[in-house]
Amino acid sequence: MTHAATKPATGTFPQGFLWGGATAANQIEGAYSDGGKGLSIQDVMPQGITQPPSDGPTPDNLKQSAIDFYNRYAEDIALFAEMGFKVYRFSIAWSRIFPNGDDEAPNEEGIAFYSRVLDELEKHGIEPMVTISHYETPLNLARSYGGWTNRALIGFYERYCRVLFERFGSRVKYWLTFNEINSVMHEPFMSGGIPTPRAELTESDLYQAIHHELVASGRATRLAREIMPAAQVGCMILALPVYPLTPSPDDVVRAMDTAHASYAFGDIHCRGAYPGYLLRYFRDNGIELDITEQDREDLKNTVDFVSFSYYMSICETADPDKQEKGPGNIMGGVPNPTLEASEWGWQIDPQGLRVVMNDYWERWQKPLFVVENGLGAKDVLVESDGVLTVEDDYRIDYMNNHLVQVREAIADGAEVMGYTSWGCIDVVSASTAQMSKRYGFIYVDRNDDGSGTLDRHRKKSFGWYRDVIASNGAALN
Ligand code: BG6
Repeated sequence: MTHAATKPATGTFPQGFLWGGATAANQIEGAYSDGGKGLSIQDVMPQGITQPPSDGPTPDNLKQSAIDFYNRYAEDIALFAEMGFKVYRFSIAWSRIFPNGDDEAPNEEGIAFYSRVLDELEKHGIEPMVTISHYETPLNLARSYGGWTNRALIGFYERYCRVLFERFGSRVKYWLTFNEINSVMHEPFMSGGIPTPRAELTESDLYQAIHHELVASGRATRLAREIMPAAQVGCMILALPVYPLTPSPDDVVRAMDTAHASYAFGDIHCRGAYPGYLLRYFRDNGIELDITEQDREDLKNTVDFVSFSYYMSICETADPDKQEKGPGNIMGGVPNPTLEASEWGWQIDPQGLRVVMNDYWERWQKPLFVVENGLGAKDVLVESDGVLTVEDDYRIDYMNNHLVQVREAIADGAEVMGYTSWGCIDVVSASTAQMSKRYGFIYVDRNDDGSGTLDRHRKKSFGWYRDVIASNGAALN
């Protein structure tokens, strides 16, 4: 790899480390039907994953207007630049480019919008990183095709990728194929555009959908190499280290099995074939997938780097009386009695980040990119020296403690390309569709009931992150 060619000294970050922030189109853009955009699955998820989808768009869906990034992107990117961002990870809304997903030709207005966003990033010297599909499958592909259960989506996705690579390939170096690809098993509609309720889907249905996504990811990687030889393509995994609840070997084996369910995605993306433990699981559970010879070839297009989100760890146990899961990032798990939790019940475990980074690095030997991490918290806007701000020391603590563990993982030998904090500006929550679950360094004046001016205010963490970036991490405690 070209990145981080020189190993940094212990306790430092490599030169050229890509500091920045991350968002997703459906959580920030709004303007859900402007510029020729079609509907996406998010337009029928007014309550996030807490309620079943609605029939069509409803006025209570905050994502339809979100934080109006569609019109305010220049102002927001200028604020990112003020913090010194080196990289900005954002997603392209598939339904802005192909409103129905199966259209023959792309929507030029959608392309023009992202071109303007790239202009702005270039103006400020911020490297773009694009997530091609971040929980925003065009609604038509869900409703008319059954989402990723249908093999036809591979072709539609490839057509979409071709347009992105041909139009933006000279301007975007870093690409991620699917956000948190391992979440399909848990949230089939949001993650895989699969409209059938989870309880009615068989494991075969889900693994077939996953297979289609993995093949699509492989094909996108091959296409990226053909069209943009200098580009780097990464997979994106929801990282959730799994600890045994007790030292009992039964708990250890249970933890291993749960970890395998997510490792499989990285194993296939990095090694180009299904791992033995997953083939065994298919055999033991009578799961037979439709896998063609061409599919096997497509899977061999392995990724350049591994990106992941990290918010929390979980425990596993074989004890039937302790199976109750706590809240968490999509999957959740058996709570860890030694850890505290956020206001939304996600357990806070900075060292888990070091654990998972060592784990991934040793397993795949591919450069790592932390593309999501952060604290969802209720913020209170206050006036300080005549300026509206948020005294978010809790967020500074959270981020400082996690970044210290990134530094530790680098000292342990992991090659790490960068770190983009999640929701660098307040966004609408993916799971709950709330505005009040805030992650940003920038406060957006918008409330859960839709009220608010949409004005932006720098939180205390804004200046803190600016100092961390300016010192290339030396300002961390
Ligand atoms: C990840 C997603 O699961 O976590 C993001 O990739 C999401 O889209 C983030 O916003 C935080 O989750 P939530 O539910 O607090 O928004």
